[in-house]
Amino acid sequence: MNNDLVEELERRNRLAEEGGGKARRERQRQEGKLNARERIALLLDEGTFEETDRFVTHRATDFGMADKRFPGDGIVTGYGRIDRRTVFVFAQDFTVFGGSLSEANAAKVVKLMETAMRVGAPIIGLNDSGGARIQEGVVSLAGYADIFLRNTMASGVVPQISAILGPCAGGAVYSPAITDFILMVDKTSYMFVTGPDVIRTVTHEEVTKEALGGAVTHNEISGVAHFEAHDDAECLAMVRELLSFLPSNNLDDPPRRECTDPVDRADRALDKVVPKESNQPYDIKDVITHIVDDGYFFEVHEHFAKNIVVGFARMNGRPVGMVANQPAVLAGVLDINASVKGARFVRFCDAFNIPLITLEDVPGFLPGTQQEYGGIIRHGAKLLFAFAEATVPKLLVITRKAYGGAYCVMSSKHLRTDVNLAWPTAEIAVMGPEGAVNIVYGRELAEVLRMAEKSEGKLSDERQAEVLAAARAARVHEFREQFANPYVAAERGYVDAVILPHETRRRLCAALEMLEGKREKMPPKKHGNIPL
Ligand code: HXC
Repeated sequence: MNNDLVEELERRNRLAEEGGGKARRERQRQEGKLNARERIALLLDEGTFEETDRFVTHRATDFGMADKRFPGDGIVTGYGRIDRRTVFVFAQDFTVFGGSLSEANAAKVVKLMETAMRVGAPIIGLNDSGGARIQEGVVSLAGYADIFLRNTMASGVVPQISAILGPCAGGAVYSPAITDFILMVDKTSYMFVTGPDVIRTVTHEEVTKEALGGAVTHNEISGVAHFEAHDDAECLAMVRELLSFLPSNNLDDPPRRECTDPVDRADRALDKVVPKESNQPYDIKDVITHIVDDGYFFEVHEHFAKNIVVGFARMNGRPVGMVANQPAVLAGVLDINASVKGARFVRFCDAFNIPLITLEDVPGFLPGTQQEYGGIIRHGAKLLFAFAEATVPKLLVITRKAYGGAYCVMSSKHLRTDVNLAWPTAEIAVMGPEGAVNIVYGRELAEVLRMAEKSEGKLSDERQAEVLAAARAARVHEFREQFANPYVAAERGYVDAVILPHETRRRLCAALEMLEGKREKMPPKKHGNIPL
């Protein structure tokens, strides 16, 4: 090979690797952020990155852009491997025009996404950008829309993961929003549709970037983000971990691992988890970790709507999606946020062939004007719809309460759940005993009170409560005996088996094996109309 040709290639390669130059890279480092290439190197298996479109440059000429060109144009794209499986990745390079999106770099992303869909491999976006490239105007906006379309086409075909590692503002947020999972880094990343300046002008609210759209805000309050990391390295490690549970595409099964944890491990600690008093809380995560392989649970949406717990685990080496009411938070009640969180997770698992295990202990939907005005009917229906349409293997364990509509919603037999188990502590009824007695025996209780007043005269509040409690106790006991147990449901086959808690792991592993070849289809349709 002619030396000149080699040198020219080397010169161009050096230039591409420099990004926006030493000073801008240094500034990025001082802000606690890695640069685009360092991020890709940390994300992928060592030495597996193959870059694409390294020499692409923008075509703009206005605003002094004609003589400002950087190879790659502010985005590094390519493919490589994570745990030896192919993934596609793009990393916005904030050192080049603030990582802003141009016609040329949008085209790089679109090309990458289309290839990923053709070969059936996940797409990972490492976002760190000032948004639409101002100098390119509508051409840049068109680039965003081109990406949004591909995000939508790829949804449910290949997993899409967005790591937010810097700014992500304006309409740019909608590409990550369409993807399956969003990870954010504390202090250095933020997402918002309109920033603090616009908010100050329009609504006169004072808010910082961090409070408006930082990692804590989106993990805890809005639920936009699913994971929070302390720094770039932790965030990228989380992406790798997440992918270890996911298939490469919707036609593959999730990757199975060797399992050394005995499938028939009988964990006696489970027999003591549910407290004697049915209004006492316990932590459902204790149940999850006692059941799954090696006690390892990778929680999703950990900081949002904590009254429901979702995440990935393995059973006999097979990835599963866990959905569990959390009695330790708001008694595990279903509210708007919990319904939306659960529904999105269930739909993701269903799209990507990940069996669902549901642990149920739910007193019902949260009452109140706030919830009703906020549309709990519409949002609760999402969870119902998601469980009903899911065709992956579905398993349910009722640990304690399964009351009212929430009984139907949470993967009940009637929604085509394959294996429904209940612990002896299960209480399956239209509502809890106290509520039921108040309604069914309302007249009787009023009569008891009237009689007491007749013999004792006007009752103080305390005495009234005492009389009512005594009168209610017998009825509550009777209700409990008759309804608040798993046997009425078991007699009808709504529950397949009542099992001791320590048998749960063995029973679930056996059920998953039995369901390995499950093939269930929905009736032909363009798509359903989930209540959005
Ligand atoms: C072109 C941009 C840019 C942009 C930043 N830069 N944003 N260049 N288009 N959108 C450049 C800057 O000129 C600067 O170049 C370098 O990136 C670093 O920017 P700084 O401002 O010095 O960085 P910092 O102080 O960290 O502030 C980051 C920032 C700020 C908060 C993101 O740059 C900013 O507000 N940018 C504009 C954000 C914005 O309004 N974007 C449009 C959003 S609307 P030099 O050469 O000095 O290093 C949108 C619509 C999407 O994106 C539509 C989808 C439908």
